[in-house]
Amino acid sequence: MFNIVVFVSGRGSNLKALLDKIPEDKIRICAVVSDKKDCGAVQFAVQNKIPVFLVSTKNQTGFFNYSELIQQLKKIPVDLIVLAGFLKMIPDNFVEEFEFRIINIHPALLPAFGGSGMYGVNVHRAVFDSSAKISGATVHFADKIYDHGMIIAQRAVDISDVKTPDEIAGRVLEIEHELLPFVVEKFADSKIIVNKNRVTIAV
Ligand code: GRF
Repeated sequence: MFNIVVFVSGRGSNLKALLDKIPEDKIRICAVVSDKKDCGAVQFAVQNKIPVFLVSTKNQTGFFNYSELIQQLKKIPVDLIVLAGFLKMIPDNFVEEFEFRIINIHPALLPAFGGSGMYGVNVHRAVFDSSAKISGATVHFADKIYDHGMIIAQRAVDISDVKTPDEIAGRVLEIEHELLPFVVEKFADSKIIVNKNRVTIAV
């Protein structure tokens, strides 16, 4: 069984897409990690009986710090960490511990429209204001810099006729819900090949 842990901060539509689309005989969502104890994604995890770990860099009751979280995740043990709308920067020690085993989904075509502050509607507004004609979703390795690690997979969508940033968000979200389960399954099948500076997906 290929064990994944999904990090969330928001409504959890990508978590739901993963649960719906990944083959359960091959991949298991072992836990959900969140910095927000009441977000939609956490509620969805609880409803679906997925264990939830809360994480914080501050000393908050009921929350693990990242060193404690590493120990918890090592016990599972985790094959892949999926950041699906997790809004906090992951500390360096955590990234080092799980190098090349943390992926993130970003709602634009990196390396454009990424980096600090580029999340949620900010991304789609920036894309809209740029007058770009395509947007899309990117799955990439998480490293110590926001939206920076090597790109694993991308899918694009035509936005030439949109009237608002929200319309872009809707089109991109549909793609995210296809792309993320696709990539996770490729990891489970050992089809993600990391070369020096390129990632390829074996067929
Ligand atoms: C998605 O657009 C994801 O790409 C971004 O945050 C959003 C999370 O949405 N990083 P959801 O919580 O999965 O619905």
